[in-house]
Amino acid sequence: MYTIEYHGRNYQCRADETILDAMLRQGVDFPFSCRKGSCHACVHVAEKGRLSADAQKGLDDHKKGEGCFLPCLCRPVDDMVIVPRRKTGASHTAPAAPASDHRFRSPDPEMWQALGEGSVLSAVLTDFYTRVYNDQRLAPFFHGVTRQRAIEKQFLFMRQKFTGEKVYFGDRPRNAHHWMVISNELFDYRESIMVDCLRRHGLPEHLVERWRDLENSFRSDIVKDEPWKRRIGDIELPVAGFDEITLDVGALCDSCGQEIDAGVTARYHLRLGTLYCPDCMDAAVA
Ligand code: FES
Repeated sequence: MYTIEYHGRNYQCRADETILDAMLRQGVDFPFSCRKGSCHACVHVAEKGRLSADAQKGLDDHKKGEGCFLPCLCRPVDDMVIVPRRKTGASHTAPAAPASDHRFRSPDPEMWQALGEGSVLSAVLTDFYTRVYNDQRLAPFFHGVTRQRAIEKQFLFMRQKFTGEKVYFGDRPRNAHHWMVISNELFDYRESIMVDCLRRHGLPEHLVERWRDLENSFRSDIVKDEPWKRRIGDIELPVAGFDEITLDVGALCDSCGQEIDAGVTARYHLRLGTLYCPDCMDAAVA
């Protein structure tokens, strides 16, 4: 067990967990997004303590020289003092792509027909999410969501767009992606996989372009360099944090794997839904 000092408090981190996991387990409101070393939303500086070999993977030499590291990759090998990296002023968000010419239309009977009134769309999305869930850069954004659930949600969203029927009741794109730190480059990468799937399933090229226009109309709602708060109307909801729940049925702790009995009050992470037993949620703060 190692001690990690952060904002003047000590937190305990096991040798087999990342510093990010340890912070989340102990209720710290800590920035993160992909949890896999891609987005760099979690970058911090190690003021004291040695870093493991993986901790700086993918950072440029300048950041490495500053002592920056990625808490989502870093398993401790030493007691540490860590601090947030100072922002340098300007936003690091890549410039948004030029606004689309909005050639997409909604509803779009021609598109819906070309998508087999749902049958081709279903095949496209199954193909697409199979690739996404096997992709190291994209899969982390679907942590805790089954592939089938992702397909069904996207199917209903697209069906509503193309038919005008009110069948999608999920979040709008801005809220659905509020915590995901996604660059223009990552947005384009995801889109290239989708375009490939559309072509493989025979969508005519002018409809592939129209689909791209539709997706690009959401780019400014999705691309960002730090998580946004979730909004419902004018109300901003917390982007992260914890709540407590008294369990109706037993469950397993996502940190230590021990059983949590029915009737016990446990803590869960609002964004991730991970559940922590009383030992794991308290043990840490020294
Ligand atoms: Fe650590 Fe994305 S790089 S959360």
